[in-house]
Amino acid sequence: PVIYLITPTHGRLEQKADLTRLSYTLRLVPNIHWIIVEDLSRKSDLVTNFLANCKLPYTHLFVATPDNYKLKEKDPNWLKPRGVLQRNKGLQWLRNQTGVTGVVYFADDDNTYDLRIFEEMRYTQRVSVWPVGLVGDLKYESPKLRNKKVVGWHTYWKPERKFAMDMAGFAINARLLLEHPRAEFRMTAGRGNLESDLLTQLGVEWSDLEPRAEDCTKVLVWHTRTEKSSLKNEGKMKTYYNTSSDINIE
Ligand code: UGA
Ligand code: MN
Repeated sequence: PVIYLITPTHGRLEQKADLTRLSYTLRLVPNIHWIIVEDLSRKSDLVTNFLANCKLPYTHLFVATPDNYKLKEKDPNWLKPRGVLQRNKGLQWLRNQTGVTGVVYFADDDNTYDLRIFEEMRYTQRVSVWPVGLVGDLKYESPKLRNKKVVGWHTYWKPERKFAMDMAGFAINARLLLEHPRAEFRMTAGRGNLESDLLTQLGVEWSDLEPRAEDCTKVLVWHTRTEKSSLKNEGKMKTYYNTSSDINIE
């Protein structure tokens, strides 16, 4: 089966570095199709050129998050959900293709993926699930199992969510998305509830969940976050040396 990876991405200093690292992981994965969706009102030159050289089968889409849904510089990162319209754009593209079969995974551009996670998800019947490292202010979050079935969630934050998982912790058989053509991520889902809200719309029950990664005992994906780079010496370069970095260099 093909794995369709839907990756929202937004412009920032570290974007090209994060995408480069992710693409080098994906190059080692057979049978994937990368759906990369920019949070912008057009395709950027940076991502267009990057994809042209990335040696992966891809689809390049874009949709801008409206200003009222965007985080401001000083906002805490949990205030507004990120990547929502972009993932939905990817879902819409998939549903408009004819004869799509395979598995869909929402792969954020800054996480770290063990190659084995792609083989774990490849044979998903409905929804497969596994632990995610370095998330929720814990060493990891994970589905809790009894007799190899999901019976709850190892998470500090809102454990009462029906599916208390990070975006990186599950994959969906494309058939399920086609059977529920209106299911999508919703801005209104509430804080930290995007994932659970989508799976609920797909009519998923705990009994449908397929635990992976050795009965959820192995961490094969990490919710890493790239440190924001400082440009504080750019201004000083101008002041003291009357020079600055070339704006044409990505
Ligand atoms: C956590 C979860 O891991 C995300 O899956 C979830 O979307 C997010 O919280 C949320 O609350 O909405 P986190 O690391 O905090 O993720 O978020 P980012 O990595 O900054 O963003 C998630 C994805 O959306 C990334 O691929 C990023 O490039 C993209 N994004 C971010 C946009 O498309 N637009 C933005 O303005 C910001
Ligand atoms: Mn992230």
